[in-house]
Amino acid sequence: MTKILVVYYSMYGHIKKMADQVVEGAKSEGCEVELYQVPETLSDDILKLLKAPPKPDDPVLQFELHNKLVEADAVIFGFPTRFGMMCAQMKAMFDSLGHLWQSGQLVGKLAGIFVSTGTQGGGQETTALTAITQLAHLGMIFVPTGYSYGSDMFGLKEPQGGSAYGAGTFAGADGSRQPSEFELGRAKHQGSYIAKIAKKYSGNQ
Ligand SMILES: Cc1cc2nc3c(=O)[nH]c(=O)nc-3n(C[C@H](O)[C@H](O)[C@H](O)COP(=O)(O)O)c2cc1C
Repeated sequence: MTKILVVYYSMYGHIKKMADQVVEGAKSEGCEVELYQVPETLSDDILKLLKAPPKPDDPVLQFELHNKLVEADAVIFGFPTRFGMMCAQMKAMFDSLGHLWQSGQLVGKLAGIFVSTGTQGGGQETTALTAITQLAHLGMIFVPTGYSYGSDMFGLKEPQGGSAYGAGTFAGADGSRQPSEFELGRAKHQGSYIAKIAKKYSGNQ
């Protein structure tokens, strides 16, 4: 069976909500799907100052579990923006993959990206684009969703996160905005879209 791994970091829950939809989408294609969050790197004191709620229950992708990445046919990464780029927690996870990079164990695996930013000009595209360097060095094959979610993607009636790179949501400057139905639908679409390609690629379809 084609295996999809969804790996995320979420401080305030927006990316977690999107990640759950990505999982649903990949499952709808009959794939085996697992969801992991990356280890936190901030201290409890800092998290308290940042008013971060408790972490979701999803298992943490500790170093000992990196074989999950090796076993997957596709990995879909979700993370919030920090200064227009991926958050340090996700970067730390990538930085811990030296052993898999050196042994080429992630070469040729498919990868997708979804993001969350506070604001509309805050880095939906730069966050995804700058993350591609990680994938390139690991030899992973980036799968953008392009404009495959339909003509509503061109709509200007309401703010909509996401780009040709993948799904996205806006949290609002104060974090109070929640992912819209459209953004959640697009996250689900990303899961099924990459799962379909992974099935073809792994010869399971
Ligand atoms: C240190 C820091 C830097 C941030 N930088 C940006 C930024 O450059 N652009 C932006 O739109 N939002 C920025 N944000 C807002 C986060 O992206 C937002 O809280 C996040 O998308 C919410 O996702 P989450 O609920 O999954 O944590 C920043 C937040 C923090 C704490």
